[in-house]
Amino acid sequence: MEKNLPVNLLTASVINQLCRQLNIRPTKQLGQNFVTEPSAIRKIVREAGIKPADQVLEVGPGLGSLTLGLLEVGATVAACEIDARLAAFLPATIRSHAPGAAGNLYLIQKDALKLVPADLTGLSSIAEGADDAGNKCGGNVSDASSTASRNFSPTVLVSNLPYNVAVPVLLHLFAAFPSLERALVMVQKEVAQRLCANPGSKVYGVPSVKIAWYGRARMGSDISRRVFYPQPNVDSALVEISRENNSLFTCQGDTKTDTRLGEAALDQPAWSTQQQAADREAVFSLIDQAFASRRKMLRAGLKTWAQPLVAETLLRACGIDPTARAENLKVNQFVALARLRKVLLAGFENQPESAITPGELPSVAPVDTVAPVPDTSGNIGNKTAIASANGKINLFLACGESAAGYHRLSTVFQAVSLKETVEITLQPTGIDLEVSFSAPPGAVGYHPGRDQEALADLAPNNNLATRAFILVAAHGGYQGGARIRINKQVPVAAGMAGGSADGAAALLAANQVLQAGLSREELAELGASLGADVPFGLYGGTCFADRRGDRITPLPPVKPLHLVVAVSPETLPTPQVFKQFDQAGAARTQMPTLAEITPLLQALYAGDFAALAKLIHNDLQAPALTLIPQLGATIEAAGQLGAIPFISGSGPSIICLVDSAEKAEKLAGELAQLAQVAYTLPLTFSAPEIALARKQWWA
Ligand code: C5P
Repeated sequence: MEKNLPVNLLTASVINQLCRQLNIRPTKQLGQNFVTEPSAIRKIVREAGIKPADQVLEVGPGLGSLTLGLLEVGATVAACEIDARLAAFLPATIRSHAPGAAGNLYLIQKDALKLVPADLTGLSSIAEGADDAGNKCGGNVSDASSTASRNFSPTVLVSNLPYNVAVPVLLHLFAAFPSLERALVMVQKEVAQRLCANPGSKVYGVPSVKIAWYGRARMGSDISRRVFYPQPNVDSALVEISRENNSLFTCQGDTKTDTRLGEAALDQPAWSTQQQAADREAVFSLIDQAFASRRKMLRAGLKTWAQPLVAETLLRACGIDPTARAENLKVNQFVALARLRKVLLAGFENQPESAITPGELPSVAPVDTVAPVPDTSGNIGNKTAIASANGKINLFLACGESAAGYHRLSTVFQAVSLKETVEITLQPTGIDLEVSFSAPPGAVGYHPGRDQEALADLAPNNNLATRAFILVAAHGGYQGGARIRINKQVPVAAGMAGGSADGAAALLAANQVLQAGLSREELAELGASLGADVPFGLYGGTCFADRRGDRITPLPPVKPLHLVVAVSPETLPTPQVFKQFDQAGAARTQMPTLAEITPLLQALYAGDFAALAKLIHNDLQAPALTLIPQLGATIEAAGQLGAIPFISGSGPSIICLVDSAEKAEKLAGELAQLAQVAYTLPLTFSAPEIALARKQWWA
């Protein structure tokens, strides 16, 4: 392509003359102001950094001032003009002022808000016979039989944008033309400032965030009012927007650079164009709603988007202070919020209608109250309550630095079909504790010896059920005694929170038998003082937890999967595993948020077994394997038998996910043969309390 073609830029007198000739008065409605200063035009083209090979999209060429400037530096230009008269007149102006460059201009008469890539295919340049508003307009378009038609793929937008539609046009074009890498546009100065504003600024608003979705906006030069005809009563400025092909927002390309989604997001398939559009729509709709009440705190301001409790949960889950305002949030925080809401609410799909009972929560769901026995002793009502809590596995466990003896965690708990049952009977004085063991159905090679021994090794006065009872009793001012009977199914000291489940079940039973009237949240607070995993035992199902693992965000129920637990004859004290973890220097400084674990949740909701294999992760697996190297052999054997094997919590239990009950049964038999396996338990994910999860999401 020829460089520096002879081009005469339009001067003020030529523009006046053209306007008279055309009998046009620039209309306010179309936001028309023509640039009359060649020096201003050259400044815009220079600032846009246009090179001869560039394919430039220009919106609103008007009389052609900027078009000629672009042609002058050798660019190829597709100009989109809404005004039929101007579009019809432009070819003549270009031919007379830049005769050698007419072959580089393609003209489309159309509203830029409706311009799509198909409009830029099969074009003929104005030099190739399109006498009036060329190519795709005026029915005079692709009569290209005599000339080569051309598909135009613009990489840069340069435009003196019609001020009244500048932002929608920009947003539309960046969405519709993935080929656009950047834009240099002239807009009203306030709009320029808005587009470039950062969170916290007074002018930060919907345009700032939406443009930030596509890339980075920077202020360019101011343009004097004097260079326009007619002279506008607003100031103008240039804005440069460069698209950032950030997989964060498009989910295209190399996901390995997608650090925001953390390790768990690696190898995610690229999204289809449709998925990307749906994703963008969800994010943009959230942005609109958040800024509709920009002065309000988000937890209240988002009420048309989510129930206040849901909004608060989502905000917290994304690491956003629920008292923050829309103007404080960066675009990636809006993205995280919108995506998380979509994924989590999808988790409720296909739930039976009966499960949708907004606002209704069973008093304390897992508790069966045994009717009070008539008082025979004359001292105290002989009352008993029984409650149970499930053992858990961790489908994701990220571990940070420690403070005050505890490590920061980000984890996804999943309850499994192993129950700890605690029965509390009030008695006048003293606390008596009885522990029994029972195997779940289908256990292979089960013998309670391993667990009895492991339990005996634990400090006897450290039993969490006893301590839980004492806590609730103290809270209610109860000074009598109790007989506490625990039936254990969860392997002891095996990374499945058996002891914590005892504590949780005892809290529930004590709350009931002592009629303490504590809510689940209050019990969870008491539970957290007993142990980091106790609060989860009060919720069950699938939960995200952060802080020490004690702050619970219940999640919608996932598709139940089958699993086999291979129980190691050895035990692993949790502190020892954390110590080993510290020694390896593997602590994370930044903890993944719930939003960042979204791909795992999606796989769980979809029951996508193959995806789960890549997304399940445990930071404590390596230290547990260092402490008991033979666990590696079990993991390898389970993997060869088609399972997804991993260590739960701090180990040493090895969890082997499989996709059917038959496979679980078979695998339980095979793994039980291994010398390094004490016994195996075929289990399923435990059904969550839908009403409880719903309370969080639909209350
Ligand atoms: O809370 P719990 O008693 O179950 O924790 C047992 C031990 O595990 C703690 O004393 C601590 O050494 C370790 N731990 C930790 N960070 C956590 C949870 C447990 O270091 N978040």
